[in-house]
Amino acid sequence: MLVAGIDVGSLTAEVVLIKDGNVIHYVIMPTGSNSRKAAERALDSALQAMNLKQSDLDYVVATGYGRISIDIADKRITEITCHGRGALYFNPRVRTVIDIGGQDSKVIRINDGGNVFDFAMNDKCAAGTGRFLEVMAQALEVGIEDLAELSEKATDTVTISSMCTVFAESEVVSLIAQGLPREQIARGLHQSIAERTVGLIRRVGLEELVMITGGVAKNTALVKALNEKLGTTIIVPEEPQIAGALGAALLAQEELSA
Ligand SMILES: Nc1ncnc2c1ncn2[C@@H]1O[C@H](COP(=O)(O)OP(=O)(O)OP(=O)(O)O)[C@@H](O)[C@H]1O
Ligand SMILES: [Mg+2]
Repeated sequence: MLVAGIDVGSLTAEVVLIKDGNVIHYVIMPTGSNSRKAAERALDSALQAMNLKQSDLDYVVATGYGRISIDIADKRITEITCHGRGALYFNPRVRTVIDIGGQDSKVIRINDGGNVFDFAMNDKCAAGTGRFLEVMAQALEVGIEDLAELSEKATDTVTISSMCTVFAESEVVSLIAQGLPREQIARGLHQSIAERTVGLIRRVGLEELVMITGGVAKNTALVKALNEKLGTTIIVPEEPQIAGALGAALLAQEELSA
């Protein structure tokens, strides 16, 4: 039995393959400008790596913002359900999931039965998301992977007052021009995103254990800022960016067995 989960997000597309109950492979690729092509590319790459072809697939579940355009999918399921399911696979005791991707940030609450019972999402705006961090990394002239390290060097924090990505970018540019240390600005940016995320968490409440998924979970400075503000230790799974696709693949497996 071979199933695939495909998550096409605003920035990246992931595919997870499950064969006879075991995760056998996954890929993460940029989405680019065409969701449909991104899904096909990621799926073919995952299948090829395992010497498999599309006709070997028994069931495919698609999720993510680009799920509508994925023709090969047998079923489409929301990111909320898929991220919840993926997080539970990483740790069945997780009750709160924070997913921060390129353009969305959401908090998902899971009950003891493993079902989503509430969630909160950011409004249609890049503030508090991965895209925000990418714009700021560019302004600070560091790669997105190095933003956390820069921030962790700071001994003090510069408060960033603008929430909006566009205004925050000008603010950062002007702070750099004023000669403020880049590491302090980076730290201020992480504090700002953490605060926004805590606001989102307050809307649905927090129950332990807490897990973070999505690409931004790879940002150690943000996870640290969140831990400090929440007074907890958020679990970062082995590969947080595949949680949605993993959940989709697990749900595909369940659909087949049902
Ligand atoms: N190695 C890394 N270090 C720090 N941040 C990272 C790293 N890799 C990815 N990111 C962050 O993850 C973000 C992308 O996350 P993800 O792949 O979950 O988005 P997405 O699913 O395409 O978006 P969405 O779910 O909002 O549609 C990037 O904007 C970047 O901020
Ligand atoms: Mg996503």
